[in-house]
Amino acid sequence: MVRASASAPATVDLGDPDTFADHDLDGFWRTLRDTAPVYWNPPVGGRRGFWVLSRYDDIMAAYRDDLNLTSERGNVLVTLLGGGDAGAGRMLAVTDGHRHHELRKILQRVLSPRVLSDVAAAVRANTRRLIREAVEAGGCDFAAEIASRIPMTTISNLLGVPEQDRDYLLAQTKAALSADTEDVDETDSEMARNEILLYFMDMVEERRAAPGDDVISMLVASSIDGVPLSDEDIVLNCYSLIIGGDETSRLTMIDGVHNLAARPEQWRRLKDGEVAIDTAVDEVLRWASPTMHFGRTVVRETEMHGVRLRPGEVVTLWHASGNRDERVFDRPGEFDLGRAPNKHLAFGYGPHFCLGSYLARVEIAELLLALRDFTTGVEQTGEALRIRSNFLTGFSTLPVRLRPDPRSMKEAATQ
Ligand code: HEM
Repeated sequence: MVRASASAPATVDLGDPDTFADHDLDGFWRTLRDTAPVYWNPPVGGRRGFWVLSRYDDIMAAYRDDLNLTSERGNVLVTLLGGGDAGAGRMLAVTDGHRHHELRKILQRVLSPRVLSDVAAAVRANTRRLIREAVEAGGCDFAAEIASRIPMTTISNLLGVPEQDRDYLLAQTKAALSADTEDVDETDSEMARNEILLYFMDMVEERRAAPGDDVISMLVASSIDGVPLSDEDIVLNCYSLIIGGDETSRLTMIDGVHNLAARPEQWRRLKDGEVAIDTAVDEVLRWASPTMHFGRTVVRETEMHGVRLRPGEVVTLWHASGNRDERVFDRPGEFDLGRAPNKHLAFGYGPHFCLGSYLARVEIAELLLALRDFTTGVEQTGEALRIRSNFLTGFSTLPVRLRPDPRSMKEAATQ
């Protein structure tokens, strides 16, 4: 579906998920960056208004500023405008100060490259198997049959979620954050979030009784300032890992494949080894910017571009715009797999910089490598459906045909 182009700020409400499903906002963002870098999205239908930052440098400055801005009243529009986050002060992403620092140290231990080497090897094997199977099958829905099976498997392995529960968790995760269809409303999302929390509550109980070598067992054995983490602390952080680790990586992979299908010249560069995989991964991330925004609440009055930001006001930081800022990126509207430098904001910045960035990079890199090795290209064979969300962007379905590379498929068959 071709989306209408929107450039007049007065016609755009960034709180409304339909805005993103129905409009191409490139013109709108350019107008904001040029003329209103600190823009007020007015209140709509009983929903509060909020500040919108669209320039790269301003977003970086806000991410750094944990003195005047807090994450503890939520970090996405839904919670920021909905009265706060139930995990505040306990779930890493919505905790600040000393407790954030200590909790981050605990979670960093399980998400560091050294600890994740086995997980990375499993990602590689799983991704290569899925791509080979899809090549052999002729066609597939890349979103449902491949992208859905990579991050969820990885994060489930980390957390020790049994095989038979993974489809259930995947369905709840999709309902909790993005909406694949218009039938899912905020009440369904709320219920899905509760389902995930209850699920992990049971797992924590099991691990307390019989610890294993998974992340939940490690959290059960962890303390901050001599006080063990409570069941609620552990459950909320498992929730955050599964939510943070699944949707974002999945949407990035789908967007990457969508782009490779639409831009054969970029595919060629990848296939011919003209671009380094790590460089290509960063461009896939910049382009997808799957989390369109994060946000903060003002706790001390501060100023930006002469605009006063007052305590209690909500400030949103838009990667969707910052990653296309012509003040920082050369030809920002071009998908260029060889782009360097590429200091994109897809993983945020500062004290809350994404803890799963290494894992996400591994997943995207393995996908690109498997496509390069086993196919001669990707062809989109049907319409890609957009998710409906004011936080995440991307597609929920992507029908494709993966053209086999006969030589490497034959080699793989004999291994
Ligand atoms: C934080 C993006 C993958 C776990 C963040 C933040 C961003 C982000 C922008 C900062 C939020 C803020 O400042 O309020 C992404 C993207 C990903 C991805 C684009 C994939 C392409 C992952 C994965 C995991 C993960 C795979 C876990 C396995 C986390 C956690 C935080 C976080 C725990 C909170 C860090 C903190 O508050 O200190 N992510 N993420 N993310 N992410 Fe990711």
